[in-house]
Amino acid sequence: MFDSLQALPADPILGLMQLYRNDAHPQKVDLGVGVYKNDAGQTPVMAAVKAAEVQLLAQQNSKTYVGPAGNEAFVALMKQLTFGECLSSVDDRLAAVQTPGGCGALKVAAELIKTASPTAAIWVSSPTWGNHIPLLGNAGLQLREYPYLSQCQTQLDWPAMQAAMDQVKAGDVVLLHGSCHNPTGVDLTLAQWQWLADKALEKGFIPFVDMAYQGFGDGIEEDAAGLRYMASVLPELLLAVSCSKNFGLYRERVGMVVAMCPSGGASVAATTHMLSIVRGIYSMPPDHGAAIVAHLLANGALANEWRAELDSMRLRIQQLRCQFADTMAALGYPEFQFVANQKGMFSYLGISQPQVTWLAEQKSIYLLSSSRASIAGLSRDNLDYVCHSLAQSITV
Ligand code: LMR
Repeated sequence: MFDSLQALPADPILGLMQLYRNDAHPQKVDLGVGVYKNDAGQTPVMAAVKAAEVQLLAQQNSKTYVGPAGNEAFVALMKQLTFGECLSSVDDRLAAVQTPGGCGALKVAAELIKTASPTAAIWVSSPTWGNHIPLLGNAGLQLREYPYLSQCQTQLDWPAMQAAMDQVKAGDVVLLHGSCHNPTGVDLTLAQWQWLADKALEKGFIPFVDMAYQGFGDGIEEDAAGLRYMASVLPELLLAVSCSKNFGLYRERVGMVVAMCPSGGASVAATTHMLSIVRGIYSMPPDHGAAIVAHLLANGALANEWRAELDSMRLRIQQLRCQFADTMAALGYPEFQFVANQKGMFSYLGISQPQVTWLAEQKSIYLLSSSRASIAGLSRDNLDYVCHSLAQSITV
């Protein structure tokens, strides 16, 4: 049977991680995968997460099954974190379960859309995170694209995006990045979220917010403003949440999927479908990451410590963005100023594929072939090396 299988190419993001790991160059730089790194190039366990984990270890007295919905305390606290002040007015209309990471949330949501409306199309930004395509498309739903970037690749093409929204049909789903657009770092303003909410009402489409970087753009509350506005005015929306980046729980695989339904009754029914979908894919989510988040968010002191650490991670990335733009300007390339204005982990540097290859092969600097660079991979030690190499790549 397996003789018939042809080997597949490596995943563009995970394959790059492996190339970086295998590279023995002493100055190698990983600007590929979206993982936060400190100035020493490490991804440490966040202090509040570590403390919560230690306390949990002492307290936990059973490893019995948690059930398909996962950890209920986690779900309640994460709904609070994401929906904030508007939670009380929508909570009875929310169907929500814990998932294995944001990927699990996207997959469960795609299967739920397929169950509720098999002919619905899902509209994704062009470009979007590469893994959105299999996670959403493999459910058998039609995927459509809406334009997102202007020709210079550094700004939103808002008129083009607006025009595309007129093509979206009633019952279709429009995927939006909650904050820190992956791969471009180009975010929507609150006024644009409000316009999209009006459009969703007018056309009858359903926004689907992918919230993988809450806290990395402008702050925890600020990054949820678009989602919260939409939740306060729309009858329906979907939300996929990841705790990989903002809790640094990458390998623990913890996230949440939420369907906001038009009524409490509809949310009860939607929950039963979510549970059945979960049972049919992975049965139940892993507990450890969700137990950590629940413990941390329920403990005021730990929650404050976590917020402060997340703030400092965000500020560090913003600083790196500015230092990168300033250094490129000093080298004669002021056109990279846009990097200082974008949000979150990623920016498109706007360089060609041969330049990206040259940087990997000649300088051991790894970024995606689209020129997406993970800014968190920069540091005090490698920033000059990266900027000089980038400048050199422009002239070779
Ligand atoms: C990324 O975009 O680099 C991250 O979200 C990691 C991944 O799984 O692709």
